[in-house]
Amino acid sequence: DTKRNLIIVSNRLPLSVKRVDGSFQSSISSGGLVTALSGLTKSTQFRWFGWPGLEVKDNEDRKDVCQSLEEHNASPVFLDSDLAHEHYNGFSNRILWPILHYQSGVTFDDGPWQAYKRVNELFADEICQAAENGTLIWIHDYHLMLLPELLRARLQKQGKSCAIGFSLHTPFPAGDFWRNLPVRKHLIDGLLASDLLGFHTDEYKQNFIDTCASLLGARTEIPNQIQYKNRLVCIDQFIVGIDPLKFTDTLQNPDVKDRIQTLEERYKGVRVIVGVDRLDHIKGLTQKLKGFDAFLDDHPELRNKVVLIQVAVPSREDVKEYQELETELSTLAGKINGKHATPEGTPLLYMHRSVPFTELAALYSIADACLLTSTRDGMNLVSFEYVACQEKRHGVLVLSEFAGAASFMREGSICFHPANKTEMSEALYAALHLDKDERRRKYEYLRDFVHKHTSARWGQTFIEKLNSRACNSTRPC
Ligand code: UDP
Ligand code: G6P
Repeated sequence: DTKRNLIIVSNRLPLSVKRVDGSFQSSISSGGLVTALSGLTKSTQFRWFGWPGLEVKDNEDRKDVCQSLEEHNASPVFLDSDLAHEHYNGFSNRILWPILHYQSGVTFDDGPWQAYKRVNELFADEICQAAENGTLIWIHDYHLMLLPELLRARLQKQGKSCAIGFSLHTPFPAGDFWRNLPVRKHLIDGLLASDLLGFHTDEYKQNFIDTCASLLGARTEIPNQIQYKNRLVCIDQFIVGIDPLKFTDTLQNPDVKDRIQTLEERYKGVRVIVGVDRLDHIKGLTQKLKGFDAFLDDHPELRNKVVLIQVAVPSREDVKEYQELETELSTLAGKINGKHATPEGTPLLYMHRSVPFTELAALYSIADACLLTSTRDGMNLVSFEYVACQEKRHGVLVLSEFAGAASFMREGSICFHPANKTEMSEALYAALHLDKDERRRKYEYLRDFVHKHTSARWGQTFIEKLNSRACNSTRPC
């Protein structure tokens, strides 16, 4: 039976709602999770539950918000603003996110942790109510790690039998790093109440398995399964992707074609490097700007002949560390242009804003190289999107070896260590000087990968497996 109801749960919904002059405005949310899940909507039907992004107290207002989300088949889980703030900014983004990405200097606080638990409980109440017997429930990402356990208990009480799947969109760090977190066991316990757990790479999956064995004494001898508290949890790698046709179709749009032509004329004789990242420490943006500075120092002959267009999408702006990073980057961008600009132009275009989809596609398409410098990154879907827009140009992907995508794309890209300025500078130089045949070979390799591993396929594979767990939860994985 593949026609079971499907509920998807994530903290972030496809639309984020904001209050502007007393009324509500919704805008498309940023980030890879929304890209991957939105890419599923063509082929799979589901109802999507999540936090709408703001507090709505009044009942009439709540109805308005529900209505604006309805066209995306999305339903809001309303949270008070203080609670949402402590859960989202306090615990998820200031404590959990840095630990998942190997960042040190994280301070644990009990207040945010209590809020994290409470929000996971509120989600559990809401989802339990919405689920029917047999509904498949697929939970996403680090904001909701306790949800599988809380939800299972509630469903059992109500006599509903539902398979629960969970996908993590970040890395899962090696054991010793995870131990830094005082609530390390609670979170793993929460996840192990799932029937199926998905990770982006084998490395993350293996790290998680090792942690279950060492921290909880779970049995992990049989590949892809964890036995814990008399339950069998299946665990696997599922390659997340994008909907590449969305990009290739957009590139056919006459307005986008015009825009591409305008940009190509503007940058005639100039090699364009593009970067698109949420403004986040893990994207290695400081390293990227410093590496580009080194590249310009190393190659004075390329003066006025190369430009880096960097889109830094505003993200998590209520968190101090993110604000500080923005200040650092804008200062650095100014310094680099101060050092390398000529009356003919500036080598760095730093844009601190989000860009419309059509403009994004045009930018990807005119770039000779795409530079991604993540210090750690679950997958990095920007790398897929760049490839999807390179059918004509065969531009080169210059990719940090720490992006999850590098586990699959090494052969089709030029990989480097993001903290090594010399390596980055050499990788960029090599990318801009690769001969035509080699560029085509690399492009074709990546194109085949991106068109094979789509978000639709990712979703179908996960859901099929979850469904088979629902039919027989004792069968080996
Ligand atoms: N993106 C966006 N707004 C923009 C520019 C890009 O939402 O102004 C999208 C981009 O197209 C990509 C996603 O944000 O789909 C970023 O996903 P990725 O997996 O690379 O990183 P994440 O932000 O999830 O860490
Ligand atoms: C990453 C996370 C997602 C998150 C996205 C955007 O991709 O894995 O869960 O939605 O970043 O971040 P935000 O905080 O705006 O949801």
